[in-house]
Formats: sequence, C-alpha cells, structure tokens
Amino acid sequence: MHTLFVTSEAYPLVKTGGLADVSGALPAALRQLGVDARLLLPAYTCVLDAIGTRDTGLLLPLLPGIEAARLRFGKMPDGETPVYVLDCPSLYQRAGDPYHDTQGLEWRDNDLRFAALSKAAALLATPEIAHNLDFHPQLIHCNDWQTSLTPAYQRYMPGKQPPTLLSIHNMAYQGVFTPKSLPSLGLPWESYSIQGLEFYGLVSFLKAGLFYADWLSTVSPTYAQEIQTEEFGYGLQGLLHNRRDSLTGLLNGIDEQQWNPATDTRLFAQYSSKDLRGKAHNKQELQRRLGLNLEAKTPLLACITRLTEQKGIDLVVKVLPQILAEGAQFVILGSGDKKLEQALSQLAASYPQQVSVTLGYNENLSHRIEAAADIFLMPSRFEPCGLNQMYSMSYGTLPIVRRTGGLADTVTPVTPANLDNRSATGFVFDHEDADALLQTTQYALVLYRQRGLWQSLQRNAMQRDFSWRRSAQAYLQLYQQLVGTAHNSIG
Ligand code: ADP
Ligand code: GLC
Repeated sequence: MHTLFVTSEAYPLVKTGGLADVSGALPAALRQLGVDARLLLPAYTCVLDAIGTRDTGLLLPLLPGIEAARLRFGKMPDGETPVYVLDCPSLYQRAGDPYHDTQGLEWRDNDLRFAALSKAAALLATPEIAHNLDFHPQLIHCNDWQTSLTPAYQRYMPGKQPPTLLSIHNMAYQGVFTPKSLPSLGLPWESYSIQGLEFYGLVSFLKAGLFYADWLSTVSPTYAQEIQTEEFGYGLQGLLHNRRDSLTGLLNGIDEQQWNPATDTRLFAQYSSKDLRGKAHNKQELQRRLGLNLEAKTPLLACITRLTEQKGIDLVVKVLPQILAEGAQFVILGSGDKKLEQALSQLAASYPQQVSVTLGYNENLSHRIEAAADIFLMPSRFEPCGLNQMYSMSYGTLPIVRRTGGLADTVTPVTPANLDNRSATGFVFDHEDADALLQTTQYALVLYRQRGLWQSLQRNAMQRDFSWRRSAQAYLQLYQQLVGTAHNSIG
C-alpha cells in the first residue's frame, strides 16, 4: 500500500497545534504496519532548515502566474518517513508561521499557498510524475482545509485518479475566500457551484473537500456525530449528514516516542505508574523555575493551549480566583487571543506566588508542565479530538474536561461505578459555563486530598493505552477499503 499524506504542518518540522502531532506520528505508525506512507508539505524556511533534502529534478507548474515549484525529497528526523517538500519560495519562504505573518495576521495569499499544496498532491499521483518519482500513491490522505482542494483538482484532471480521504481536524477553520480568487486557483468557473466549491456566495476549500473527497474522517467518533448538527457544523452540517455513510470517526493516538514520562528526557526526572516519586520532583523543580511557592501538597493546575474561543480559557479566567482561594496553584502556557493574554497576565500579577503565565510556544516547557501538574484543565467548547488530555493522563495528571468530541471519547469520568471498577481517569462536566467548571474543579480538589484514592486514579490514567497502534490499524483498514483491496467492510 502506497499513500501520500498531505499536510500543512508536521512535528518536529513545523507545528502550530495537534495537526502537526498527528502528521508527525500517524504516517510513521502506518509504516510500522507495512504501508509506504510518505508526507507532502510546503518548504517553509523552518522545514528546509530542519532536514536535508535533495532536488528530485521535478518542476511542478501549480497555479497561473506563480513560478513552478521544485519538488525536493528528504526523510523526517526519525530517519524513516520519506517527505516530499514543495519548494516555491514566493509562497512559502517567509518569517511567521504557516498561516500568519509575524504580527499574527493571516497571510493574504493563503488561498494560493494552500491551493498550490493541494494541486501538488493531485499532480504527484498522476502516472507521469509517479513514474518519475518511482512512487505510485494508491490513495491521497488530505488533512483539513489547507489540502481540501486536492480532490477538486483531481476532478478536472484527465484519466483515473487515486481515491482521496479527507481528515477533518477542525471544522472551525474552513479556508473561505472571495470568488474573485477562482481564476488564480486555476479551477474552472463550473466548479463554483453548490455541487462544488461554492458556500454562501464564497469559495470554501473545506466545502470542496467535503463534497469531492471519496471518504471523510474526523479525529474522534463523537465529533463525527457532532459535526452533523447545527451547533458544530458551521453551516456544513447538511452536507456532512448527507455524506454520513462515508464519514468515519477515528481517534487520534499519542506518539509514545515523544510523550512517555518513563523516557522523556525533557523532564527533570522520569517516572512511571509503578513509581510516581519522579513526578513530585518535577513539580518542585517547575515551581522553583516559575517562581511559585515550593509547596509539595498544594494542588497544581495547568493548561497548555492555543488561546482561542474553542478552548474555553475565558471560563478558567472567570473561576480562577475562587479556585486559588481554595489553596491551589495555576500554570498556563499558551498564546493567541490578546484579550485572554492580558487577562491571564493580570492574574499572574495579582497572584505572583500562585499563578504563572508563559505567553508563547515552548515545547520543552509543555512536557515539563504535563509532568509537574496534578490537574489539567481543558474546558473546550468543542474539541475534535484533543491531545493534551491524553498526554496528561499518560503523565498521571488528571484532566478536567467538558463532555465534547474527543474529550468525551477519551476521558472516563470519576463516578461511583467507575471508581469501583477502577476505570475512572478524569473529571467530566457537561455545561459550557463557568459554574460547571468551578464545581467540577472543587470536587477534584476534594479527591486530591485523599492521597490513596488520587494515586489509584493516576494509575488508571497512566495505564490506559493511547498509542497510535490501534488507530493506525483502523486507518489501514479504511485505506484498504478505499483502494478496493479490503476483505471486510468498514465498521
Ligand atoms: P489543537 O490542535 O486544537 O491546538 P490539541 O490538543 O490537539 O489541540 O493539540 C495541541 C498541541 O499543541 C499539543 O501537542 C500541545 O502540547 C501543543 N501546544 C499548544 N500550545 C502550546 C504552547 N504554547 N507551547 C507548546 N506546545 C503547545
Ligand atoms: C485540531 C483539533 C484538535 C485535534 C487536532 C489533531 O487542531 O482542534 O482537537 O486533536 O486537530 O487532530
């Protein structure tokens, strides 16, 4: 099985969120199962800096008026997973992140930048280019709106094209542009219709993918259901509902090479479910480095997150003074919304020994926080899958989450029955409001003081298997079904 995995970010080359974690880990897990999975991603400056690549000699004409892109080839830093890198300096070599300039504003030509990526994916699977590369993708696995035009381009190419799977990691980002951009995307006007790219008078990349892709997946079973409703579908719920027979929810896993407290070299001390002493050391060292009171018994609550409406951090800001009044500490690492950044900074100024706020992106610190904290807060309004709750459970840091998307699918709530049968791994609340978060946190703090009980919850959480193995197997079955070699139908 040969597959091309197209993505706009992949850890450790370039990362703004969980999509990068998935793109870094899933193709590698599929390779373990014997799939020849290869990545395609843009040659951002940081990507070219991170890995050595060689010129394949192929020049790909992508969009009208844009220089042909040079296709480069290298290996991911794991030394295993092959990666095609789309080198088109006028589109990708700039300061800033994949989607924004250094001021945080979206690149004005994101339509061109990601249409080019989508077009390249479609081209790589055409017989002539596949022959040149000696790599013949039987399936293209697209991810999010940035790669969603791939099946639209295929639709207008001659000959038979390999099937496409579009994984939806987040419906909140759709890649919507004015129809004026259509000629520069190199797609015919006829594609601008309800049966195509058109979405309320605009061009929607995601809509195109949802319409044209052979199969759709999301990153958790619950989210696959939620996006068929008005609340989570952002206007696309009808289309998703119509396509429900070709829509699967497959949970993300976590990369145990990166996220395992027993081997994580970023930590101040390693530890495991059998011996949690190292966790206490991580807490003390983090408290010291962040200037918090050195208090072993004070519960340490944490968040690591993009600061966006999605993540519900405004709810945390609301309830924090009451939580701190109970004698707790709070650490947050994140960046994004300026108002939230300000509100958090004010809290840190008001409670210097209890609250630490780090604005920005810091991979090392994120691991250290996961290891040091007692409780991880994730009161998301919606969460397609969420990785941090799984990292938290693996690190014995009990999550408090809202019952939505992948949070509902991965955290087993503390209830009398789940305490009895030792399956509870965290705390779950339903309503999207500050009171529900506060009450659940207060309940968690009560249990935190019962050391034996708390440790048994930590062990339950740490012993859960969140590895990619199972999900990769499910993706492989889906791939086989799509290329027509499956023996069983998809469950
Ligand atoms: P999303 O993709 O919606 O942001 P996920 O939970 O799937 O949410 O993944 C977020 C990923 O980004 C995790 O690996 C998390 O540790 C990481 N992350 C988020 N914010 C930061 C930050 N400020 N510094 C370091 N890592 C971060
Ligand atoms: C998105 C979602 C997140 C998910 C990640 C990886 O960014 O917001 O819930 O875990 O993609 O699939």
